[in-house]
Amino acid sequence: MNRKMFVAGNWKMNLSLNDGEKLCEEIKASLAELEFDNKVDVVLFPPFVHLDRLHQKLDSTGIKIGAQNIHHEKSGAYTGEISADMIHSCGAAYCLVGHSERRIYQAESDTQLLAKVNLLLANNIQPIFCLGESLADRESGQEKPVIAKQLSALFKLDKNDITKLILAYEPVWAIGTGKTATVDQAQAMHAFIREEFSKQFGEAAAEKCTILYGGSCKPENAKDLFQMKDVDGGLIGGASLKADSFVDIVKAAL
Ligand code: PGA
Repeated sequence: MNRKMFVAGNWKMNLSLNDGEKLCEEIKASLAELEFDNKVDVVLFPPFVHLDRLHQKLDSTGIKIGAQNIHHEKSGAYTGEISADMIHSCGAAYCLVGHSERRIYQAESDTQLLAKVNLLLANNIQPIFCLGESLADRESGQEKPVIAKQLSALFKLDKNDITKLILAYEPVWAIGTGKTATVDQAQAMHAFIREEFSKQFGEAAAEKCTILYGGSCKPENAKDLFQMKDVDGGLIGGASLKADSFVDIVKAAL
């Protein structure tokens, strides 16, 4: 099965609007020569407050914009929160759900994550559902049960909706640590995720599902990771904050 490659830049809580605009300009200029968009989906995930401006800036470049989170309720008295239809109105075509930093710092529950996925789908936004085990989970040999449990939050989804999901495997011990999973560790977990997904939703849906790797992915290791059979691209944190390294990772996916 030929799945299209996908490279996403998760800016997290970094970059002013001005710096974000500069970074977009640089990425746009470097990618313009590459005719990338029939081979790789490239999506940037800036902070909420930059969405609208950067969406306009990247219009008709082939580079898409996504949000890092939404609230799990549709609307209402939730001071400081942002809804699915708000990010849609600012041009977000994708949204991260359940990034480990949110699971850890905001104690997001499976029920909330499922509600977010449903709200995104109702607004025609593609969710990127993140999964990842901690170092303690891996050291105690529990990585597969932990990932299977996180994935099971999606099992109540409608079968028609399941094909719109993207998954991102991001081992917590590899995020921002410089310690990347080996290509074999990444491939083994991606294959396991696809197998679990297949058991629940069928082989055809599982074969279609894009599964990204995230966790200290950089120009030096991207090509090897992306060559693995079940690794369909990357969710890039630190290395997405500089045009050179991000563009080199996109090139590794071409
Ligand atoms: P990192 O982050 O590339 O800085 O490890 C990845 C992520 O958290 O999405």
